[in-house]
Amino acid sequence: MSIGRPLEAFEAGHAELARLCADLEKLADGLPDNVDSGTCDALAHRVPATVSEVLRGEEDLLFPYLTRRLPDMPDLATTLTRLKAEHHADLCYAEEVEEALADFAAGRPGLSTDAIGYMLRGFFDGQRRHIAAERQLLLPLFARLGDG
Ligand SMILES: [Fe+2]
Repeated sequence: MSIGRPLEAFEAGHAELARLCADLEKLADGLPDNVDSGTCDALAHRVPATVSEVLRGEEDLLFPYLTRRLPDMPDLATTLTRLKAEHHADLCYAEEVEEALADFAAGRPGLSTDAIGYMLRGFFDGQRRHIAAERQLLLPLFARLGDG
């Protein structure tokens, strides 16, 4: 594996999550009347699919790569364990967002509009915090490997 590919994959994953967050924020701003049900339904299913794809890439490719390349790095295992715990919580949250948006798109919302908006903002704010923390923690490691 070349040293450039893991960093590219890391950046691409975060860019995809950032796009998802922007689309969810736009949807939240449009609730309840300025939301197209087809767009809402498609976005609903994109949430867990994107989160799952990105975290799988990080956990299956990126984290093992860093562990392999930086075997003596203190606290790396602890850091990666913490990030994996965030991933697990994010995926559970993503599935709740999917259900809420799919129900709303189908015209049978199980939650009030305010509750859906609150849930969406909690989700994308959390994703943005995760991305920022992950970058703060891991980009210096790529730099240390001569790839940052
Ligand atoms: Fe992550």
